[in-house]
Amino acid sequence: METLRGKHASFMDSAALAERLAVYSTIHMDMGTGDGRYVAHVAQARPDTFVIGVDACRENLIDISRRAPANTLFVIANAQALPSELTGLAAHISINFPWGSLIEGLLNGDVGLMAGLMAVARPNAVIDVRLNGGALAEAGWELEAGAARVQAVLAANGFVMQPVKPMPTAELKPFPTTWAKRIAFGRDPRAMVLHGVRVGEVEGISYREEIAISI
Ligand SMILES: C[S@@+](CC[C@H](N)C(=O)[O-])C[C@H]1O[C@@H](n2cnc3c(N)ncnc32)[C@H](O)[C@@H]1O
Repeated sequence: METLRGKHASFMDSAALAERLAVYSTIHMDMGTGDGRYVAHVAQARPDTFVIGVDACRENLIDISRRAPANTLFVIANAQALPSELTGLAAHISINFPWGSLIEGLLNGDVGLMAGLMAVARPNAVIDVRLNGGALAEAGWELEAGAARVQAVLAANGFVMQPVKPMPTAELKPFPTTWAKRIAFGRDPRAMVLHGVRVGEVEGISYREEIAISI
């Protein structure tokens, strides 16, 4: 897969990635990471976590990827066709304020995006999706209806979802992404947050059953 450090792009295979990951206890992936600010924040706050930021656009990542902590990696990829090197790694997935094909894929249940999210997620991986009114309006959806739609799509594609919650301006303002700030101080500061957990199958046993058995 293609990774970025400053202006320097390079290819990393699964073996090289495994070497980088070896000393970390857990992996967080941020899809549509934008300028990577959230990745740097999580990496600094949790030194035991390896944080991978994924975005289709390289330009915004040049700056942060040059100076981000050692427990970060920036991958240039379309979330609708995630690199196979990421398979089965993520204990936590975040998608903060998606737009364009990323929000369209969440609303429409794009097959590539849904298969990719399931593929990268470990059993019981947590997923957090934050949606804003402006991006949903551009995609042709009202805030509540759009958030409910994304929740239903994720629920239909292997995630057990909690009820959608509003994300008030007081939460948006300190939230450590560039778009959270833009939205909080912009014309339409409405946002919603979705939270879920991946379920799946291992050798014919669903993880929920496995949990029930182990209890
Ligand atoms: C509004 S920005 C949000 C950036 C960041 N998460 C934040 O909160 O500041 C949306 C990001 O999604 C990325 N994006 C859109 N479609 C994508 C796709 N199919 N695959 C990967 N990234 C995508 C864009 O390049 C952009 O950086």
